[in-house]
Amino acid sequence: MSIESRREFLRKTMIGAGAVSLASLAGSGCGGDPPAEARRPLVVSTWRHGLAANEAAWELLEAGGRALDAVEAGVRVSEADPEVRSVGLGGAPDGEGHVTLDACIMDQRGECGAVAFLEHILHPISVARMVMEKTPHVMLVGSGALDFALANGFEKTNLLTAEAEAKWRQWLLATSGREKTGAANHDTIGMLAIDEQGDLSGACTTSGLAYKLRGRVGDSPIIGAGLYVDNAVGAACATGRGELVMKTLGTFLIVELMRHGASPDEACRRAIGRIDERGWNDGDAQVGYLAIDKSGRVGASSLRPGFQYAVRDGSGDNLLDAQPA
Ligand code: GLY
Repeated sequence: MSIESRREFLRKTMIGAGAVSLASLAGSGCGGDPPAEARRPLVVSTWRHGLAANEAAWELLEAGGRALDAVEAGVRVSEADPEVRSVGLGGAPDGEGHVTLDACIMDQRGECGAVAFLEHILHPISVARMVMEKTPHVMLVGSGALDFALANGFEKTNLLTAEAEAKWRQWLLATSGREKTGAANHDTIGMLAIDEQGDLSGACTTSGLAYKLRGRVGDSPIIGAGLYVDNAVGAACATGRGELVMKTLGTFLIVELMRHGASPDEACRRAIGRIDERGWNDGDAQVGYLAIDKSGRVGASSLRPGFQYAVRDGSGDNLLDAQPA
């Protein structure tokens, strides 16, 4: 970056950070200037189903547990809930009727694990953690990921509920299976936490785009796209149309913007802006970003109205509306 560009970058960052500071203080109360003392423990997650997930994570955090354990326990709640139609059990299948799952996890050391195109396993997030902790690799996919899970004590589960199957059959009848990109159903859960020690971790898990092409993998298991954590700076997670997040490496971008001084809110808005700048906002897609920084400030933004996120700390829980960029 030239000196001129760097000056311009810093100028925009400062202007944005100031604007966001006021907006956030007036709105959610979660952004704003850095608090004098770090806000912790803290857990945040995407969408309304994040409330229940946060509660499970909070139990661990409140008892002094690690952020890594908290985010795993938290998103397992959504994975096991058949009412959550875009994660784990009850998730919408691909166009051929198979539920295929993507997940990743990242800890305070920058270690990470991921699974993609994984079938028949109720808790892909725990398989992702095992990839991180038991292998020298970051990601396992498909039948290899399934074999690894089964060899490590996970059991096969039928993830296609009767309700999800009925909806898929309706979709088949309505489209003759031709509409391969699927409906706008991708309410992925992403979760970020800071524990009492001040360490950050994150998790992200999804069944992906409803009725997707078989073999399609979205942003959720991709480190730097669906999730990124840097313990010195902050963390970010994504939900929505994965292709747009992957093409802009959205969560890596957000953490890098925070590293250079942007508040979490501003960083999320600028990552959303990047999708617009590249001409990839087709007016139909949704992308939502959620971020925290090391001091416990929270920020979020989305392409369109409607993205909500859940926040849990010592003062209670909240479901907040993200502001479109
Ligand atoms: N964000 C989830 C997906 O696109 O698969």
